[in-house]
Amino acid sequence: MIALGCDHGGFELMGAVKEHLEKRGLEYKDFGTHSADSCDYPDFAKAVASAVLSGECDRGILICGTGIGISIAANRFEGIRCALCHDCFSAEATRLHNDANILAMGGRVVGPGHALKIVDTFLDTPFSDEERHKRRIAKIEENHKKAD
Ligand code: RB5
Repeated sequence: MIALGCDHGGFELMGAVKEHLEKRGLEYKDFGTHSADSCDYPDFAKAVASAVLSGECDRGILICGTGIGISIAANRFEGIRCALCHDCFSAEATRLHNDANILAMGGRVVGPGHALKIVDTFLDTPFSDEERHKRRIAKIEENHKKAD
């Protein structure tokens, strides 16, 4: 199950992502927003982060205008490793090296054709499970302050 969240800046691209996941037969839970009306990206980052941390969803995808605000907001939650990616190399590397559990993108930055390839790369790449990467991720988590 994939958790989806966006603000008004990511609303249009999220529509393309949902259609793509449906074509691939991948299940998702849509945490909104559900219109192009102005809204606050931290609310959707929190909903998706909570769904991933509770185990309700395995991975998340977050989209705002730039992808920056929504990724910053998601990364405030302990255990979330949200990677802002606008290229497939980064999407592959963040799965292999960082075991990122949420992908963030900017709906005003990347077009749907490229974005869907980034989504596929993120979803289809497993964590490398290599010792050095596990050690570095553990250090990230040790440094993280507890969320409320
Ligand atoms: C909304 O206008 C915009 O600020 C938001 O989508 C995002 O880009 C913030 O980082």
